[in-house]
Amino acid sequence: MLRKAPAFNAHHHLVRRQRLIEQICAAGGGVAVIPTSAEISRNQDNEFPYRHDSYFYYLTGFTEPEATLVVIAGDTPRTVLFCRPRDADREVWTGYRLGPEAACAHVGADEAYSSEELSKRLPELLGNQPALWYSLGHDTGWDKRLMEALTDVRGMTRSGIRAPSDIRDVRVLLDEMRLFKDGYELDTLRTAADISASAHARAMRTTRPGMFEYEIEAELLHEFRRHGSQSVSFNPIVASGPNACVLHYNENSRQMGADELLMIDAGCELNSYAGDISRTFPVGGKFVGARRDLYALVLSAQKAAITECQAGRHFNTPHETVVEILSRGLIDLGLLKGSLDEALETGAYRRFYMHRTSHWLGLDVHDVGNYKLDGQWRTLQPDMVLTIEPGCYVRRADDIPEAFWNIGIRIEDDVLITANGPEVLTSAVPKCIKDVEACMAGN
Ligand code: GLY
Ligand code: MN
Repeated sequence: MLRKAPAFNAHHHLVRRQRLIEQICAAGGGVAVIPTSAEISRNQDNEFPYRHDSYFYYLTGFTEPEATLVVIAGDTPRTVLFCRPRDADREVWTGYRLGPEAACAHVGADEAYSSEELSKRLPELLGNQPALWYSLGHDTGWDKRLMEALTDVRGMTRSGIRAPSDIRDVRVLLDEMRLFKDGYELDTLRTAADISASAHARAMRTTRPGMFEYEIEAELLHEFRRHGSQSVSFNPIVASGPNACVLHYNENSRQMGADELLMIDAGCELNSYAGDISRTFPVGGKFVGARRDLYALVLSAQKAAITECQAGRHFNTPHETVVEILSRGLIDLGLLKGSLDEALETGAYRRFYMHRTSHWLGLDVHDVGNYKLDGQWRTLQPDMVLTIEPGCYVRRADDIPEAFWNIGIRIEDDVLITANGPEVLTSAVPKCIKDVEACMAGN
């Protein structure tokens, strides 16, 4: 049994809105406008699968499209939600809507109105506010709408109403808040990690020579969905043999051979939070030869990088650890020439390891949050969640021994920084050579 994710609780979102209000007040006050994502039409009468905007969700927990949150900071703060009105005819086709009255209670907003009233009410909400806090440039349709609303407010000057004189980026505040996960978020991330891990273990148990990559993708999706995950956190990468050297391969269409590795990079999205795991294993069930040597090298780099995930160390420390271990190992295996210092100085290792080791993880798989502050790598702190995902990708080339051709390896775990060291959220899926081989053998 996988642990259950915590149930929705509007209180968490309310607390976040209060924290946003405090920060806006501390920065001089103003009004924040945070729209959710637009639906995108695929063809007549069909849309692409809908995913709400993560900032909007973070502050509301509300998942319907056509919704907007307005947060007024100041002496009498209030939050106003705009959402789709009830519509008996449309609800027959596209599902139930809460409507403003029920949505107001669900979200714990102070007021709620139909989204059809937004354009009419926006100028009044923006009036006499020192600043508009908004994510300018994210959605040009919304940019235009807000510029028009500001023009309308300026037209009210003779009634003594001022337009905001500043437009400030609300993401600066929200990104920093989202970087530090609260208890509810951590518990949801733990369950998203558990489900993702269970799917990877299932893929490992199922893979056999002659199967197609898409069959394994289907196993992953089945496991995600049967545990209640609503979608994938990104398109699954199921890459065998040479395909594993394409970092974001996702055609997932190739037939797998016995003497190849299969690299899977996939995670579920559960209640809007992402899992993100990579595992690489031998299609034939046994790590042998060059594939075994390279796998052992990447694994040692990954384990060492995880031990560097300590509060107070720099974000880049795990990456530096990986680069050094991989470079030394690649020299020992004869894939890199020259000394370790040369490899590090010239970046020669990038031929085989061209991406970085980590990204933040949360509502988005590559979650928001600065990696540097004032030009320096920021320090890791408790309640941050990041991935540790070193890899090694060796393509066919005249100066590379044939045994190493077309080997792509990535090993990725999700790691929570705690005051007592790293907590690996995805440790349930095997990665040590003997554990992977035992899992594949059904033990
Ligand atoms: N796991 C996909 C990525 O990190 O890019
Ligand atoms: Mn990742």
